[in-house]
Amino acid sequence: MGEYQVLEHDVLVIGAGGAGLSAAVRASASGVKVGVVSKSLLGKAHTVMAEGGMAAAMGNVDGRDNWKVHFADTMRGGQYLNNWRMAQLHAQEAPDRVRELEQWGAIFDRTKEGKILQRNFGGHRYPRLAHVGDRTGLEMIRTLQDHGIHQGIDFHMEVTILTLLQDAGRVVGAFGYDRERGRFRIFKAKAIILATGGVGRAFKITSNSWEYTADGHALAYQAGAELLDMEFVQFHPTGMVWPPSVRGILVTEGVRGEGGVLRNKDGKRFMFDDIPPLYKNQTADNEEEGWRYTQGDKDARRPPELLTRDHVARCIQREVREGRGSPHGGVYLDIAWIKEKIQNAPEHIKRKLPSMYHQFKQLGDIDITKEPMEVGPTTHYMMGGVKVDAETQMSKVPGLFAAGECGAGLHGANRLGGNSLSDLLVFGNRAGSHAADWAKSHGAGAVNTDQVEETARRALAPFERNGGESPYAVHHDLQDLMQNLVGIVRLENEMTQAIEKIQALKARAAKVFVPGNREYNNGWHMAMDLPNMLEVSEMIARSGIDRKESRGAHFRDDYPKKDDEYSKFNLVIRKAADGSQQLERVPIAEMPADLKQIIEEMK
Ligand code: FUM
Repeated sequence: MGEYQVLEHDVLVIGAGGAGLSAAVRASASGVKVGVVSKSLLGKAHTVMAEGGMAAAMGNVDGRDNWKVHFADTMRGGQYLNNWRMAQLHAQEAPDRVRELEQWGAIFDRTKEGKILQRNFGGHRYPRLAHVGDRTGLEMIRTLQDHGIHQGIDFHMEVTILTLLQDAGRVVGAFGYDRERGRFRIFKAKAIILATGGVGRAFKITSNSWEYTADGHALAYQAGAELLDMEFVQFHPTGMVWPPSVRGILVTEGVRGEGGVLRNKDGKRFMFDDIPPLYKNQTADNEEEGWRYTQGDKDARRPPELLTRDHVARCIQREVREGRGSPHGGVYLDIAWIKEKIQNAPEHIKRKLPSMYHQFKQLGDIDITKEPMEVGPTTHYMMGGVKVDAETQMSKVPGLFAAGECGAGLHGANRLGGNSLSDLLVFGNRAGSHAADWAKSHGAGAVNTDQVEETARRALAPFERNGGESPYAVHHDLQDLMQNLVGIVRLENEMTQAIEKIQALKARAAKVFVPGNREYNNGWHMAMDLPNMLEVSEMIARSGIDRKESRGAHFRDDYPKKDDEYSKFNLVIRKAADGSQQLERVPIAEMPADLKQIIEEMK
């Protein structure tokens, strides 16, 4: 075997966003040696794109809130495909996790009485999002990072993992390279937690930055884990649409939570036109009532802009498609209008939404206190991911855990805004604790040198070819394809075409050429990321074809209705012996009577 640097930990966490850091902090507190591998620099994670807050039923603003309401909202938002046990644990444990974060130094906005302030968000019945202006994810990362560093966790920044090492089926480590110099590294570990986030870079318009290339999903799949609910990709309704260089950057739902309204080019609040029956009695049918809700009036119903993200994104797309959009292919999001309602509105907006103010001022030369923003849907979040045990977060592969966006189950067919940050805390914490227990009760396994050598050989192949296509060309075509054929509105024949085209892209990806050497070579990084994005894109299309109905984030133009038959199972993908993707419909476990009763009562 070649000479590789070898690093040893009890628990290795791959990914340093909110889930990875939470898991690392908890595992370390359990007394095991923890290492965190981050593809990027510490502090740079998609977690910061959850701007508007973390959902936790603390009842600080509306005393009627409690875990049961949060549980019922999450299940309804996920259209009942959620793993109900995860939804229960999440709703029950989120308030404690938020308070813990506060003890570790997070500074939240406050109510007049000095409690943690909570704001309204789509699909949540009561103001539930603990927040720090519109920088909540950033504050969470800052806090966890500071806390983790003081616990003696080892951080390995700018490292890409290429494969999970296995011994007799269980994971015993990971093999990857440092992105600066291109040197290979072996990480030995008794347990591994995947916390790599999502898959957004497979799409053209996305809020995700360059790191989100489906790595954890693909690593788990290749190691034998099952992937769940892969058809459900969340398109956040509001990303920037102009200027083109920043298209897709997130515009927090917090804007709508603070009273922002959506209008088409005729100035019409089009969200009033289509209120789903499920939400009719919770949604205001006039502007005044919607505004009162935003201002904390407990008897008012929520404005239609705060319906679930899947629905709002489709309404925006409809307006654009039918010619009522804004000049750059979006619609208008207006927060400036609140000057009609409150004094010192510009100051209020700058205080509540400081990042949005600066983002639009600096990137688009728009003053959001005076003029509306142009916004449109952007690929934001992957509901599908590694199938894990609800209590421990362990996958089917012994010793392999997953948490956060690359795990799956909690959100079902559609995630409610703000449930991601609380998910990261609750299930990162659980994964860390159970991975530490696993590491304490299992010895180190043996590293398979053949697996290491084969992976190294494959990784270096793009340098050894005598010319060929750039990996960026393949990526560009994949992004176009996913955006156009497997996007917000889907059709069977388009997804079938997508699968055929992905096979052709896989063949091209296997032949890409990378000039230069291994040092600071972005082309090489892209060549390494491509197979992951291609594998996972195929899963999205395959599952999308099999779900012949419209539910949550998965909308089929050829099957525009929800079909009860499809509420009985989740779709699971695993790797078959011949290397192909095998899809199975796995029945959803019967919900216990007490949880069913909660849902009935909340209806
Ligand atoms: O709109 C937002 O601030 C995003 C939040 C989330 O995805 O949870």
